[in-house]
Amino acid sequence: MGRVEGKVAIVTGGASGLGAADARALAAEGAAVIVTDLDVAKGEALAAEIGAEFFEQDVSDEPSWVRLIEQTVARHGGLDILVNNAGIAIIADIAGTTTEIWRRTLAVHLDGAFFGCHHALPAMAASGGGSLINMSSTAALVGIGPYLAYSAAKGGIRSMTKSIAAYCRTQRNGVRCNSVHPGSIDTPMVHAALGGFGGPRPEGERFSDEVRRKLGLGEPADVGQLVLFLASDESKHISGAEMVIDNGDTVVQLSGPGGSG
Ligand SMILES: NC(=O)c1ccc[n+]([C@@H]2O[C@H](COP(=O)([O-])OP(=O)(O)OC[C@H]3O[C@@H](n4cnc5c(N)ncnc54)[C@H](O)[C@@H]3O)[C@@H](O)[C@H]2O)c1
Repeated sequence: MGRVEGKVAIVTGGASGLGAADARALAAEGAAVIVTDLDVAKGEALAAEIGAEFFEQDVSDEPSWVRLIEQTVARHGGLDILVNNAGIAIIADIAGTTTEIWRRTLAVHLDGAFFGCHHALPAMAASGGGSLINMSSTAALVGIGPYLAYSAAKGGIRSMTKSIAAYCRTQRNGVRCNSVHPGSIDTPMVHAALGGFGGPRPEGERFSDEVRRKLGLGEPADVGQLVLFLASDESKHISGAEMVIDNGDTVVQLSGPGGSG
């Protein structure tokens, strides 16, 4: 029996990186998966590979959410899991962040996750419960200087998640809501960021094991396994939690390598 057998899952930004790993993990454990993304070619290819459906979507567009949820419930009879994963990362600190960068970053991350939770929640509650999983970042916990808007958006996702969890608990609707906070993971987003800072780029899709170890990067499947756990009934008593997955990076930043201070 698969760990999410019989469940219906939507993964946004599922064409690449962490979303693709989440979609793979959920499909491998028996969920019916709907991958959404702006990138139609990559999204359709991934969906075909793992036996999922593809839905073209800009997560910052609210009407697309209404269509997506309606279509999912009509085809599958309900919705159990939503992974709000789609995201962009534009390098810009407080001095360099334009209004356009600020608004686009918040629109994709914060509007996208809000629209997703807002429109998925009634469908989940109607089928007796579900799991909302919001992809935040360690940027929400520490704030990254060169990523002003990104850090603000991820911080907003963190507290919005807790607010939704509190609401669901008081409503007793069976819906859980948690945020996931990865450190740096080996995906195209991080390849672009490292390149932007003059760092290495992978030769193919991924870095070699050696380079990944040297850079302290996690693998997309590491996050996929955490998302799978939060999606499954194995985590039925977990809601409102912030799940940090960074191999200790943030605790080292806070405590120092020697653990003092
Ligand atoms: N890779 C990391 O180290 C890391 C760390 C912490 C958090 N995250 C978060 O994980 C999520 C996935 O990041 P990734 O590293 O896999 O990036 P990625 O660039 O590999 O994948 C992001 C996907 O989102 C899609 N996307 C972008 N804007 C969209 C929109 N408006 N609507 C629909 N789809 C859209 C892209 O087309 C792409 O397929 C993001 O929210 C990111 O902020 C990543």
